[in-house]
Amino acid sequence: MWPVLLLESCLRNGVYVSVENIFECQSENEQLAVQDGLQLLEFAPQQRPLLEEVLEGLTAEEKSLPAKLHYDQRGSMLFEQICEVDEYYITRTELALMREISGALGDAFGNGCMLIEPGSGASLKTDLLLASMPDPAAYVPVDISRDFLLESATAIADRHDIEVLPVWADFTKGHPIPACEAAVRSRAIYFPGSTVGNFSRSEAASLLRTFGTMIQEQPDDELSGVAGAVVVGFDCKKDQGRMEAAYNDAEGVTAEFNYNVIDRLAGELGVALDRNKFTFRADWVENEGAIVSRLWVDESHSVEMAGTVVTFESGEAIRMEESHKYTPDEFELLAEESGLTMEKIWTDDAGDFAVACLRPLSV
Ligand SMILES: C[S@@+](CC[C@H](N)C(=O)[O-])C[C@H]1O[C@@H](n2cnc3c(N)ncnc32)[C@H](O)[C@@H]1O
Repeated sequence: MWPVLLLESCLRNGVYVSVENIFECQSENEQLAVQDGLQLLEFAPQQRPLLEEVLEGLTAEEKSLPAKLHYDQRGSMLFEQICEVDEYYITRTELALMREISGALGDAFGNGCMLIEPGSGASLKTDLLLASMPDPAAYVPVDISRDFLLESATAIADRHDIEVLPVWADFTKGHPIPACEAAVRSRAIYFPGSTVGNFSRSEAASLLRTFGTMIQEQPDDELSGVAGAVVVGFDCKKDQGRMEAAYNDAEGVTAEFNYNVIDRLAGELGVALDRNKFTFRADWVENEGAIVSRLWVDESHSVEMAGTVVTFESGEAIRMEESHKYTPDEFELLAEESGLTMEKIWTDDAGDFAVACLRPLSV
């Protein structure tokens, strides 16, 4: 088994620390921890920008919280439970589709490919992909949920003979790509789980554009001109009742996933919101093409946070997460607007879920 080294991308004076600076950064005031044979470079990501993001969202006309707050260790575990509930067709449909197409994707990536997965979570579907890739160079899972990332990265390194280089980072803010031992002929981005749906259409377009740039970068002796790929799993538009049921499961796991964010605010940022004053509901919003998850305020109350008093009126809501759905044609248009072309798209027989293989337009 390859040793797993966690690369933590941290914001320092507003600048992300690059790979070259990481040891320098560590020697200043961070520590190197060795746990169960894993080497962790430990930095403390600064909480202040997150508190500012939270305040900005809660003082806006339409209140909202950053969706990434859903994912601490408990949130990541709750997400895995959501994937198992009856109403949530997304994970089992995507997994079945990946069983059928991972061979074709492995061929499309070719030899010596570095696989980068933003928002890797449990890396479940990645198992199938890695097993189908001919001689992969390395696997780089990137996630905001640190401990869950480490557990998943360790499990992948146990199951595959491949160098695993986890990066703890917010993938929307940019992060360095670690260097690996093997020669890299190309890079591929794997973005499954309908995570793309958690971004507005314009955010998704700029994310895809960033991914397109990442696979074309030419760092030193890496990459030998083989076109890289961006593979995205997205949820398709379908019957409204089924889409809404997937996010309002009868067991209340998705509701708990959202209440957990409220608990986190109190525990980590000192923002004392009370989960009992809110009710969770997810609704299809036609003009956005998205399921919007909200916490509705049951009774009016005010909360002081970092010197600002925020009032929650009965009947208003905090927007927690968006899950945008696309038809294959809409997604192709989005890819083209992002400088990518749709080489191939696969869907399950019912057309519930799609996996698209995108290539840069300009290669
Ligand atoms: C919808 S889940 C998908 C997980 C996994 N890829 C799958 O297909 O099952 C989204 C994942 O992205 C991670 N994530 C969400 N926002 C992120 C961000 N801004 N930066 C890094 N990771 C993020 C979460 O921790 C979670 O693991």
